[in-house]
Amino acid sequence: MIITNVKLVNFRNYENAEIELSKNINLFFGKNGSGKTNILESIYVSSITKSYRTNKDIEVIKFNKDFTNIFVDYVDKRNNKKKTQIYISNINKKVVKEDEIAVKKLSNYIGNYNIVVFSPESLDIIKGSPKNRRKFIDILLSQLSKQYLIKLQEYNKLLLLKNATLRLEKSKIDINYLDVIDEKLTEYIKYIVNERKLIINKIQKYAEIIQKELTNDLEEIKIKYQTDFLDLNKEEILKLLKKQREQDIFKKSSSKGIQRDDILIYINDLEVNIYGSQGQNRTALLTLKLSELEIIKEEKEENPILLLDDVLSELDKSRIQYLLKYITNYQTVITTTEKEGLEELENVTFFKVSKGKVEKIKKE
Ligand SMILES: Nc1ncnc2c1ncn2[C@@H]1O[C@H](COP(=O)(O)OP(=O)(O)O)[C@@H](O)[C@H]1O
Ligand SMILES: [Mg+2]
Repeated sequence: MIITNVKLVNFRNYENAEIELSKNINLFFGKNGSGKTNILESIYVSSITKSYRTNKDIEVIKFNKDFTNIFVDYVDKRNNKKKTQIYISNINKKVVKEDEIAVKKLSNYIGNYNIVVFSPESLDIIKGSPKNRRKFIDILLSQLSKQYLIKLQEYNKLLLLKNATLRLEKSKIDINYLDVIDEKLTEYIKYIVNERKLIINKIQKYAEIIQKELTNDLEEIKIKYQTDFLDLNKEEILKLLKKQREQDIFKKSSSKGIQRDDILIYINDLEVNIYGSQGQNRTALLTLKLSELEIIKEEKEENPILLLDDVLSELDKSRIQYLLKYITNYQTVITTTEKEGLEELENVTFFKVSKGKVEKIKKE
């Protein structure tokens, strides 16, 4: 699948911009603060319906405007032309449209076309809290399976109910109600843990190979799923939840659940976020991202779109070379402040960005 056209109205520092993308590498260059990342972000929002830079949707609306529109045209793997529109407003609810028809459930929309993003923020997957790693896995799984996203949303709703109940005064807590919630949570836990386990195994399968290639066989990566529920059946899960009951009531929150899961990443048997050098952390991230790319390609039987924000400045020459060779088969959007040394690349379309304006550079 290929994005052919992106049109922005009141998105971040763009009042009106229209960008025709090529099916290969699209390289946006320009000074800091000119609006390069904003373009990448808009493409991400058009696919995932949320930004990776902020949790507040309205932040992407241009200052002093009431709404923004992102229009993306793409061609799917069966060669059908499709149109999407994301409308975000200060006043109205967000609207997502597919071929001009409003989408009722976002879970039916997300995954229509797939994105892999590699940005400075992505390093949080390695260095940040477990929440960042769960999010990485959850977004990947949600792109691959509507079912996963729906069950995760249901789980989170139930967890909110459970926590609201646990926060009540002890005498007001209805134990039967907690029993009902735990019973339901158990089913979701079983499903989600199994999906997470399978996807982490798949990541491991690809990451092993990529990490070796990236480091000339010097580094071995291991990715381990950490959860309280691995391979447990429903009875065992329920038992575990109930065992925590008294403590949960005392602490007024749920101590066990998939909201506590984590993914541990080791390089040569040491946890990379603790013992790894900066370079090793970046390499591990690149490995994870390229594994994500491979998994989406395998499962969806089409290439995802790769968004690379400022990564060229973060990686050393040999890693950059590896990456650039890797991406030749993917539609890619790259941002960089310096285009020097990249001019000779084949299949690259250059775009100059300055203060909310984008200009395609014609090659002689
Ligand atoms: N909601 C907004 N409305 C208008 N301008 C914004 C908004 N959010 C960010 N900006 C502007 O966008 C610019 C940063 O764009 P960005 O794409 O991150 O730059 P870069 O080219 O360095 O990647 C800044 O000048 C910032 O003021
Ligand atoms: Mg930027």
